Amino acid sequence: MIIQPVIKGQVAKTCHPVGCREAVLDQINYVRNAQQIKEGPKKVLVLGSSSGFGLASRVSLAFGGARADTIGVAFERGPNEKGIGSAGWYNSLTFREEAEKEGLIAKNFIGDAFSPDMRRQVVEYIKNEFGGSVDLVIYSLATGVRPDPKTGEMIRSSLKTVGSPLTGYTVNLETDALEEGVLDCASEQEIEDTVRVMGGEDWAEWIEFLSDNGVLANGCQTFAYSYIGSDITYRIYHEGTLGRAKKHLHSTADVLNEKMAEIGGTAHVAVCKALVTKASVFIPAMSPYILALFRVMKEMGIHEGCIEQMQRLFSHCVYSGSGHICTDEDRLIRVDDWELRADVQEKVRKLLDGMDGANFMQVGDYEGYKKDFLNLNGFSLEKVNYSEPVDMNRYVSINP
Ligand code: NAI
Repeated sequence: MIIQPVIKGQVAKTCHPVGCREAVLDQINYVRNAQQIKEGPKKVLVLGSSSGFGLASRVSLAFGGARADTIGVAFERGPNEKGIGSAGWYNSLTFREEAEKEGLIAKNFIGDAFSPDMRRQVVEYIKNEFGGSVDLVIYSLATGVRPDPKTGEMIRSSLKTVGSPLTGYTVNLETDALEEGVLDCASEQEIEDTVRVMGGEDWAEWIEFLSDNGVLANGCQTFAYSYIGSDITYRIYHEGTLGRAKKHLHSTADVLNEKMAEIGGTAHVAVCKALVTKASVFIPAMSPYILALFRVMKEMGIHEGCIEQMQRLFSHCVYSGSGHICTDEDRLIRVDDWELRADVQEKVRKLLDGMDGANFMQVGDYEGYKKDFLNLNGFSLEKVNYSEPVDMNRYVSINP
């Protein structure tokens, strides 16, 4: 069949299996030729491994110098009679196939990382088929819902401000328009729920479960990812509901760090750059900032995508061969350092001052933004001939 992009709002309803494969191969190719990880981990569990920062982490740790065996957990759909499935399913498949060619173990668990059953399956696999333990756990889940571990009731996050509402612009990827909207102010319950979905609670539960089952190796490390941004976006993110969740994530890292110390290990949060991912396009009023940021950082020659960020994180900040992890005074690893440079922020601010619904495509890097979004779903890649039919039979009977 011939597959075309179908976008509804901020969601891609189709994905291109061949394009997804090419996008993962590009990431592998990038890390092979970048500065390599030194003395990296060998047995890695990635929670949220199929796209964005989690996929890039996995690619970096397998192909960027560490040659790590990896287990990936992700919530994705495979092809069936109803549809093509989701990009992350094809990404996971390509990752496994390429890792296996290198003689690396790459096990995919496709399902709900919040379910006790998934945790048990992962632990059983580590015990029986993965050498008994992991020396790194990456927590990179991004989701809007999480079941309450005690009651099973669904908790939903809200992408809202705290204190007072805010008017802002958001890109509509379906109509290629910049639309004005009001970001409502969250209630106390909404703040609490967002913290429970996107804060550190589930990360801590995973670590506790892995620890209780004796599958964390001595010296095991764990990382989760965060965003802070600059004062331009504070009202939207850092001081909003998501920021509250991230603060909880940061304090969870400190609690986990003490726990991990018992086995000679560590827990850290890496603060990353604002990028286009399946999750981030949902954050209202963030897109004008990202459009301006991309334009500025590309013009300055310092733009990075997820894969560049993750390879720099691991090869420069964590496994540089120096034996220590670079952090700021709050114990955070800052790969958002280039985004937050004063010269970058000054230029971004100037662009935003002159950006409106009529000129955002010229003032900001909408072309780059949209291309990144299409690439996430296997579209708009130069190497792929989209007029060629995709043989879906190759995919229907295999597991990723
Ligand atoms: P993403 O949407 O690209 O990836 C999320 C991953 O979580 C996917 O692999 C998905 O399958 C998995 N997932 C979601 N729900 C799941 C479930 N119930 N069970 C199993 N897997 C599940 O998101 P992105 O942007 O890479 O986010 C990862 C982390 O990075 C988040 O903590 C996010 O806040 C953080 N971050 C993102 C930034 C951005 O600009 N995108 C910037 C800085 C930090």
